[in-house]
Amino acid sequence: MKYPVEGIRSRFPALAPGAVFFDGPGGTQVPQAVIDAVAAYYREANANEHGQFAFSRRSDAIIAAGRAAMADLLNARSEAEIIFGANMTTLTLHLARIIGRDLQPGDEIVVTRLDHDANIAPWLHLQEQGVLIRWLEFDPADCTLMLEDLEGMITERTRLVAVGGASNAFGTVNDLPRILAAARRAGALTFVDAVHFAPHRPVDVQQLGCDFLACSPYKFYGPHSGVLYGRREVLERLQPYKVRPSAAAIPDCFETGTKSHEAIAGVAAAIDFLAALGQELGTGCESYPAGRRRLLKQALAAISDHESLLFSRLLAGLQEIPGVRIYGITDPGRLHERTPTACFTLAGMTPAEVAQRLGEEGIHVWDGDYYAWEAMRFLGLSERGGAVRAGLSLYNNEAEVERFLSTLLRIR
Ligand SMILES: Cc1ncc(COP(=O)(O)O)c(C=O)c1O
Repeated sequence: MKYPVEGIRSRFPALAPGAVFFDGPGGTQVPQAVIDAVAAYYREANANEHGQFAFSRRSDAIIAAGRAAMADLLNARSEAEIIFGANMTTLTLHLARIIGRDLQPGDEIVVTRLDHDANIAPWLHLQEQGVLIRWLEFDPADCTLMLEDLEGMITERTRLVAVGGASNAFGTVNDLPRILAAARRAGALTFVDAVHFAPHRPVDVQQLGCDFLACSPYKFYGPHSGVLYGRREVLERLQPYKVRPSAAAIPDCFETGTKSHEAIAGVAAAIDFLAALGQELGTGCESYPAGRRRLLKQALAAISDHESLLFSRLLAGLQEIPGVRIYGITDPGRLHERTPTACFTLAGMTPAEVAQRLGEEGIHVWDGDYYAWEAMRFLGLSERGGAVRAGLSLYNNEAEVERFLSTLLRIR
């Protein structure tokens, strides 16, 4: 079946005619179903957890449904492995502090220069207690990790390897199987930042064999919130910082204070929106929630194909504009190694000027370092205002790509 982009767009009220949203890497728009689920939570279930009255029971059911939906999206073995939080950054800072309780001076953590700072700074804080940080660098020519250095970097003192699934700046999809296998051989824990990966590719934590994986539903058509997957055996071993009266069992013991229940209602709706898309695009014989995992895989495969097709046009068009410099993989034969997120500069204008001019024309793109702080400094871009980022999402279409390219050419 042909990818029904116009039908998909019509389900997103914010996608008013005239606006081009190319800031998916910063946060996607939400379908009406997500808006409805959040509103319905306030109308029908607004209460704290584990009370003896109807609204509280409904809240419990909504949170359980949110965990089940996330477990399907990530292929977790159990809902007990799904931890909700305010956002990925808060969850990662919290987890790093907990993991730090078991670390000794001289223990080592591997981080990458390519990652968002939310998967670097939380681990750097552990240097205060004598932990050593090893940096996996990237090749500035195509913004891919220098994996040939990885094996030598992981030693018997390596306690954790923290790596991104995909770069939110350059779109590079990292070779997670290879990186995680090297970490496992050394007996190190593994933490994957899948915030930029999850909107574009299916995630399978069991196949990856990672210990932790974090993502942010607001990057895949849901509300602002964060989710942390933790492998049950590891979660049960750790000692989370918590207040004493709160639940002692996983996953609740990792969730500090009251959660955003309305956001969790929206997370489940976003995942069901994707599953319904999978049903529409696939053979149609699956039902959910029973077959939801398969439907999600179908949806993500179709989304990825659609986005890649559009992106190859966007990339080719960008390359034709004089003065544009693109950072990341540009080889058309290697587009499967990247997400549909372009990072570029335009000679003679600052990234902020380019983004502002595009914004005046209704084209929403980001500029700056997008918290890929180390990477932008390494490339010498920080002092020049970073770069412009244009990222595609499931609702973008060909006309928008053409409009973006012609507007950029005019601006130049
Ligand atoms: C790759 C990546 N990691 C982490 C984050 C931080 O996520 P959050 O905003 O949920 O803290 C972002 C946000 O842009 C991101 O793109």
